[in-house]
Amino acid sequence: MDKIEIAGGASLNGEVAISGAKNAALPVMAASILSSGESHISNVPCLRDISTMGKLLAHLGMGFHQENGCVILNSDNITSIEAPYDFVRTMRASVLVLGPLIARTGRAKVSLPGGCAIGARPVNLHIMGLEKMGVQITLSEGYIEARASRLRGATVYFDIPTVTGTENLMMAASLADGMTVLENAACEPEVVDLADALVSMGADIKGAGTGIIRINGVSSLRPLDYRIIPDRIETGTYLAAAAVTRGKVKITNCRPEHAEAVISKMEQAGVKITRSDDTLTAEGPDRPAAVDIKTMPYPGFPTDMQAQFMAMAAVAGGTSIITENIFENRFMHVAEMKRMGADIKIEGSTATVKGVKALKGAPVMATDLRASASLIIAGLAAQGKTVVDRVYHLDRGYERIEEKLKALGADIRRIRG
Ligand code: EPU
Repeated sequence: MDKIEIAGGASLNGEVAISGAKNAALPVMAASILSSGESHISNVPCLRDISTMGKLLAHLGMGFHQENGCVILNSDNITSIEAPYDFVRTMRASVLVLGPLIARTGRAKVSLPGGCAIGARPVNLHIMGLEKMGVQITLSEGYIEARASRLRGATVYFDIPTVTGTENLMMAASLADGMTVLENAACEPEVVDLADALVSMGADIKGAGTGIIRINGVSSLRPLDYRIIPDRIETGTYLAAAAVTRGKVKITNCRPEHAEAVISKMEQAGVKITRSDDTLTAEGPDRPAAVDIKTMPYPGFPTDMQAQFMAMAAVAGGTSIITENIFENRFMHVAEMKRMGADIKIEGSTATVKGVKALKGAPVMATDLRASASLIIAGLAAQGKTVVDRVYHLDRGYERIEEKLKALGADIRRIRG
């Protein structure tokens, strides 16, 4: 198992280019199921989750090839309608093939994702929405088995805005008979990117990016030729890295408008930020100021930045209150940060973080993707050596992170194991 070793204390300086958004690329890849023919998707990051989705699509009978940031998929033949447990347990986003498979073939058999390190994460809202569209669903032996002779448009209200739930329904509705209205839909930029990709295939979708999305079903769709948006969470992660190292980092190929909540909180913490249409330059203060955050669905502060922000709060001047409202167990990084000398107390969904002058390097364990990133940031800020174990989590979502950080001046290396 690979580890990452960091000698903390170096100030980060220079430029870093942001990769394509993992959480936009995954649903767009699944959307290729909806048409026959060859789809081309560019600006796709080279990550483990992307190759897992590629392998799953290949398992369904599709051609999959990834080269130089471009994914080519051939969906002429769908020979299987099953997403087996082995895929779903390594990547929950495998559930994104459910909607498109039913829309294309009238059938799907997708393993139910279990809980994961950050919470129970049920898929009841995906199932409820598909049932409203006329899909017969049975849950049997750990699988969602779905059948529909025709999908019909429906009004679907989500009790909670769900990102992949909205995406699954949007894909299914694109080929349904009549109008589907998704109410209390997720507004995340990745949902909008999928809607844009579907529209480029010939779908009729209005309102993506708002709480009400209207999809008027069409009879067929064209293959994709589409470029994925930059990753707003990777962008925020490099902002946090600059903030804790008194660095000056220019982040290129990003979309600042997708990171407003994070930018605003960084500014409150004393980070000087300048921006253009596709760049952000962050200059870290001598010591960040304490800032409170509450995670919320977009455009609120993203749960996927909570852990990285906490690494900054851990060395801030003062006490920050961090409230996690999206996932019930997303504080797994806290115990590891405490091993580095952080002063953090958790009560329910709230973490009280008393900033310390300096963290001390220590061996720590990554528990999920964003927790791993937060430990890297803590390691950059710490005195001495930090070794982050189980970095396979990191490889699911950050393209070449140690190379990018090294180019900015970090003392970081991967230990192959
Ligand atoms: N929820 C339900 N029922 C459902 C679906 C969701 O109760 O049927 C709940 C969840 O348990 C959670 C909340 O609704 O409390 C929101 O979850 P959501 O469905 O939006 O999460 P997701 O679609 O499973 C995506 C991202 C996550 C990101 C969340 C929240 C992808 C592939 N994953 O997950 O990304 O944290 O939205 O923004 O898009 C990551 O990249 O590290 C990551 C975990």
